[in-house]
Amino acid sequence: MITVRALSKSFITDRGRIEVLKDVDLDIRAGERIAVVGASGAGKTTLMHLLGGLDRPSSGSVHFADKNIFRYSAQELDAFRNRSIGFVFQFHQLLPEFSALENVMMPALIGRSTAKQAESRASEILTAVGLGHRLDHKPGQLSGGEQQRVAIARSLIMSPQLLLADEPTGNLDSTTSDEILALLDRLHAERDLTIIVVTHSEKVAGHMDRIVRMTDGFLEG
Ligand SMILES: Nc1ncnc2c1ncn2[C@@H]1O[C@H](COP(=O)(O)OP(=O)(O)O)[C@@H](O)[C@H]1O
Ligand SMILES: [Mg+2]
Repeated sequence: MITVRALSKSFITDRGRIEVLKDVDLDIRAGERIAVVGASGAGKTTLMHLLGGLDRPSSGSVHFADKNIFRYSAQELDAFRNRSIGFVFQFHQLLPEFSALENVMMPALIGRSTAKQAESRASEILTAVGLGHRLDHKPGQLSGGEQQRVAIARSLIMSPQLLLADEPTGNLDSTTSDEILALLDRLHAERDLTIIVVTHSEKVAGHMDRIVRMTDGFLEG
């Protein structure tokens, strides 16, 4: 489903150019679950951003269903991301002024759903992740695990094919982390979702179909 070839990314900083990703190759099958592990600073987040089209590489390609996503115009890339990719971050990145329901509705509104459609879909997904009783709560009124479940619901409202999760349990205690893992399991089983998860947890990594390791910008495995 996804083919990554010779993907490289460097950043220009005050202290010169730093190469953060070096010739990364990766093949991802539809429905596969991959854990990306590696030390802090190894380039994991940079890789996730490129896989999801949040940033452009210095060179190399990411083909998604035979289309090189970096050939898309900025507008096409936005639309592709909205339709096909769900993102979950370590710090949920929910909008604090908005309710759980409104946060989850957001991608659907951006994707030009009507408010009514977005609301009914958001409420359905929040119920599916066990938060049907928290629709009107703001992020600050939710626990860490609940916030992360809202973020997962938000990532899924457009029914993406690929879920990119960057240390989704990095900020959670182990019980809550197990709940999130169980939720990801269920979503994978129910939706045949392809999942790429960056994690420092051996438990989370061991749960995936495959583990790849980033070391200083190189990907092995
Ligand atoms: N926008 C940026 N500008 C300059 N350096 C960056 C930028 N983003 C990431 N880096 C650097 O790239 C390296 C890898 O970062 P990152 O992908 O966040 O690693 P990881 O997620 O594995 O901890 C780090 O040294 C980081 O400082
Ligand atoms: Mg990171």
